[in-house]
Amino acid sequence: MNSATPSLKLQLGILASGSGSNLQAIIDRCNDSSLQANIALVISNNPEAFALQRAAQAGISHCCIDHRQFEQRDDFERAVVAKLQESKVELVVLAGFMRLIGDTFLHAFPQRIINIHPALLPAFPGLHVQQKALDYGAKFSGCTVHLVDSGVDTGPIIMQAVVPVYDDDSADDLAARILVEEHKIYPRAIQLLAAGRLKIEGRRVRSVPAFPPTPVALHNPPLQND
Ligand code: GRF
Repeated sequence: MNSATPSLKLQLGILASGSGSNLQAIIDRCNDSSLQANIALVISNNPEAFALQRAAQAGISHCCIDHRQFEQRDDFERAVVAKLQESKVELVVLAGFMRLIGDTFLHAFPQRIINIHPALLPAFPGLHVQQKALDYGAKFSGCTVHLVDSGVDTGPIIMQAVVPVYDDDSADDLAARILVEEHKIYPRAIQLLAAGRLKIEGRRVRSVPAFPPTPVALHNPPLQND
């Protein structure tokens, strides 16, 4: 799909700084139509980002806006916002985008910027969070899709997935286990937004109509199996 595709689908602008595996998951779900959205544009701040190659491979409009070419964050943000607006982007999807989001951005897309974070917020915001979860001794971690506000990983939570932390995990082991779930919940959360299924009430994001409750509790270590 590319920006020339005529459609009434939600127009996504995806911002990525690195590998872009979440971008790939979103591309794949758009292609199999489980995500009713169109990726209008992919932007990276990093000319080396593999995400740009993934976009090229998929025939998606893409560009690099290198933050190092701007003295002020605001000027960088203005350039990114202009590109997104030019492409008629309706929802900005941060997928491993390693720049903080400032007021210029937030005002241009109020409540229309989302992020995925590889921990169960509000635990472990910021960077290196898989190592932080291990160091803390957490028995579960996971990932969180949330709206972006002016804080660091503080916006209203849209969707989460939980994974166990094992005694002999390295940060890379845990990151890999979490990433598998990221690839499931990010496209799903975007689909819920695209379908108008989410109602934002302050900090709480509700599904309308509500989903049936999942009657399950997780235990780690398990309750039995000795
Ligand atoms: C993911 O773990 C995401 O949660 C975090 O950055 C990583 C990006 O991975 N924000 P990728 O570039 O999508 O592979």
